[in-house]
Amino acid sequence: MARPRAFAATYVAPPNIALVKYWGVRDPERALPYNSSISVTLERLRSRTTVRFDPSLAEDRVTLNGSPADGGPREGVVRFLDRVRARAGRPWSAVVRSTNNFPTASGLASSASGFAALAGAATAAAGLRLTPRALSQLARFGSGSAARSVFGGFVEWRAGTRADGRDCYARPLHGPGHWPDLVDLVLLVDRAPVKQVRSADAMQRTVRTSPGYARRLEELPGRLRGIRRALRDRDAEALFPLVMEECDSFREVCETTRPALDYLTATSRAILAQVRTLNRAAGRPLAAYTHDAGAHVHVFTLEPDFARVRARLARLPGVRRALQVRPGPGGRRID
Ligand code: PMV
Repeated sequence: MARPRAFAATYVAPPNIALVKYWGVRDPERALPYNSSISVTLERLRSRTTVRFDPSLAEDRVTLNGSPADGGPREGVVRFLDRVRARAGRPWSAVVRSTNNFPTASGLASSASGFAALAGAATAAAGLRLTPRALSQLARFGSGSAARSVFGGFVEWRAGTRADGRDCYARPLHGPGHWPDLVDLVLLVDRAPVKQVRSADAMQRTVRTSPGYARRLEELPGRLRGIRRALRDRDAEALFPLVMEECDSFREVCETTRPALDYLTATSRAILAQVRTLNRAAGRPLAAYTHDAGAHVHVFTLEPDFARVRARLARLPGVRRALQVRPGPGGRRID
């Protein structure tokens, strides 16, 4: 009997850094967030994932950064493939190979790029032809922030209001070239702890226990409006304070979660303090810090101020590397 054909595809997707954070799920079954979020897709960094469905395989084989995956990471991939298999009506097992060109589970959003790349590769390999919007709607089941990595530039993931989730999807606000002067200085800190609790679990703990969560949700529509407007107008003086306010709000609800979620190291905190000092000394918002559920810090600044900001921050004790990253393109199929 002739061996049935295997179906394969390769997809690359970048991480993104949220200016407005996704943190809390209103419907876990449909992976619907409480609030809309906004992010910048990052250039140069990427996950690259190949999926090959093969009817002769007994079970999925998953390799992450060259090593066989097991436990939680493998289960996350298998669950996601099950969703794609159900949708495509193809029961076959798959070989999945995924690599990142940056540190995994470090707060550089490897789950966003990883699941966006898996969504792109698995659906293409399964013969599904999805629009980018539909791909973003699928990717969020792997990791919420992955919905945004489908697109390049400045991206909003709309929470929507419908119970069936049809109005919950990511869409590009502006392309990668919209604001050429805007630069993200990514500061990788020493001894960044490996994540203990998956973000998906950590955020639900915040929803249940943080006394500040309800207030955060009330504040968010205003902050989202302000950030959308500042991005549209390329207005750094409006944007930077809002980005830091949002980061502080995110950190506050994490720290008041029980048990507390503390993602930062002393070096991360020193970077935040130094950005505040720089802004005070300049008498204007020269830079804005933000961080995700990890210890590395992203500092946005404008090109003319970049060298000055970098000089102050990159030499702080405990800063291991400083990368200059700009908004970049979204995920794409490469085979
Ligand atoms: O996409 P997840 O489940 O890894 O959660 C992402 C959470 C944050 O990175 C902290 C915020 C965000 O919007 O990216």
